[in-house]
Amino acid sequence: MINIAIFISGRGSNFLALLKNIETGVLKNCRIAVVFSNNEHAKGLEYATKAGIDTIVIPSKNRHDRAEYDRQIITALADYNIDLICLAGYMRLVTEELINIYKNRIINIHPALLPSFTGLHAQKQAIDYGVKISGCTVHFVDSGMDTGAVILQKTVPVYDNDTEESLSARILEQEHIAYTEAVALYADGRLKISNRKVIVTENKWVDLKY
Ligand code: GRF
Repeated sequence: MINIAIFISGRGSNFLALLKNIETGVLKNCRIAVVFSNNEHAKGLEYATKAGIDTIVIPSKNRHDRAEYDRQIITALADYNIDLICLAGYMRLVTEELINIYKNRIINIHPALLPSFTGLHAQKQAIDYGVKISGCTVHFVDSGMDTGAVILQKTVPVYDNDTEESLSARILEQEHIAYTEAVALYADGRLKISNRKVIVTENKWVDLKY
């Protein structure tokens, strides 16, 4: 059983998708131990509370001390014996210190085919650029913005009449599938990182301590 911490800043639909898939047995050997948010108004916190999952909120408004802020997170998570951190709409960069403590154990989902369209409004960036295919990427987190090693990607078509909203909705459906698949691979010990490539092994190759 792996203990997951989910980091959110807002809506929390990726968190909810993971939770549902755990509850229905689609995603095995996983437990969401805690949901962390930098925003006390994040809608996703309500789902956590309803599901009886612990929540931690450390408001980040007017906090410019990223190192100190993340140290508070590290302290708050210490009791939870966390194996994996899933960033799910978490709108802050994480510091080297947090990344090193959870080395190769932090993953993120981004609504574009990385390395294209990093950062905010990735779906709008895709539309404005005029790409015909977009999608989502689950990747390990490094200290850059959306730059870590890619675990898996899902594609969707981009139509001429797409708006940011319509494309976002099409991608979001795939995000929920992709995140569950990536967490399952992680929980099964099937992700092997070699340089910056993630190799999905046929069989379990590691006992989750990378
Ligand atoms: C998703 O599109 C995710 O890819 C991006 O932020 C959005 C979060 O949505 N990083 P939700 O909070 O999971 O509903």
